[in-house]
Amino acid sequence: MKLFIDSANPKEIKTMWDLGIIDGVTTNPTLATKAGVNYQKAVEAIIDTVDGDISLEVLSTETVGMVEEGRKLAKIHNNIVVKLPTTEDGLRALQILTAEGIRVNMTLTFSANQALLVAKLGAYIVSPFVGRLDDTGQTGIELIGEIKKIYDNYNFETQILFASVRSPLHVKEAALLGAHIATCPFDVLEKLVHHPQTDTGLKKFLDDFKESGQKPLV
Ligand code: E4P
Repeated sequence: MKLFIDSANPKEIKTMWDLGIIDGVTTNPTLATKAGVNYQKAVEAIIDTVDGDISLEVLSTETVGMVEEGRKLAKIHNNIVVKLPTTEDGLRALQILTAEGIRVNMTLTFSANQALLVAKLGAYIVSPFVGRLDDTGQTGIELIGEIKKIYDNYNFETQILFASVRSPLHVKEAALLGAHIATCPFDVLEKLVHHPQTDTGLKKFLDDFKESGQKPLV
């Protein structure tokens, strides 16, 4: 399973890219405002850092605007994937951009039927928002299982991106269900790396050896 970072903050992205644990980036307009630096500069820095898919979202809500924006975004760099909302206008724009060879990530997907439609129309990625479903008392994870089953039934090539990740448990569930990608906020990626028992275990090993008075082998 690929891991993406869900962030527009170049510092966070460089940290995780240098650590070697991420394969790509997803952003959205909210994350762009939280980037902490000028958005244009942030995107330039992200492109310089990451050699993998970088999803950038359009701001238009109508097909014509989405298509225009999508074309411009795709021209910025080969790694750019255009992110469109899963609306009626988004579906129209998806078909136009896909026909032009532009890769599209359909975002704000909340149902298996929406996921079926975007796959039929050739989306490169579908982004079901698991955490936001959980927030409303639904079981977001079930949606991933349903989409996986549907895509397997018909050999759709659209990649399932587990979005709106809230915890390491979500990442494990994504992998167990066979999602192709999970996009994680910086703090969740940190939690994947660190385990308190690894730290305490290592300290004990080193303390025990020091106490023994033995010399290191090398
Ligand atoms: C995915 O591409 C989205 O940017 C993201 O996962 C949204 O997550 P949120 O629900 O935590 O805002």
